[in-house]
Amino acid sequence: MKQKILIISILVVLLGVLYAFTSGAFHVSKDDYSSLKLPEVVDYNFHIKPILSDNCYTCHGPDANKRQGFRLDLEETAFSELSESPGEFPIVSKDPKRSKVYQAIVSDDPDMQMPPPNSNL
Ligand code: HEC
Repeated sequence: MKQKILIISILVVLLGVLYAFTSGAFHVSKDDYSSLKLPEVVDYNFHIKPILSDNCYTCHGPDANKRQGFRLDLEETAFSELSESPGEFPIVSKDPKRSKVYQAIVSDDPDMQMPPPNSNL
């Protein structure tokens, strides 16, 4: 009798986990950052850098062997004119419209979008 109750309990728990799984409770979406609550004070090292590090540094970071294009991990190059696109800058202070980094992140155009769609980042 006790064994039956145990088996039924385990089945119920497994069904619960299965239901949670299929309903997306364990699904980590790319849009998770956008649903995070904004902190009162945004700190570059604590809030921004981890996002860039996870999504951009593979190709725009410190590893010269993997880098493709400009460095986003250094303040100097993040604010300097892009060699591939003269007259354009990765980040222009207080001007998201002129900041290629922002434009690339929010773009729907797969040719402009960063990280590149095929990177699965
Ligand atoms: C898988 C590699 C890869 C990742 C990851 C990646 N990029 Fe790029 N990025 C590239 C390559 C390659 C280029 C240069 C060629 C091009 O313009 O498409 C580039 C160019 C750029 C440019 C310059 C575009 C121009 O017009 O000169 C910006 C801005 C940029 N990336 C921002 C980002 C940001 C921000 C992230 C993270 C959110 C990111 N990239 C992640 C590969 C990557």
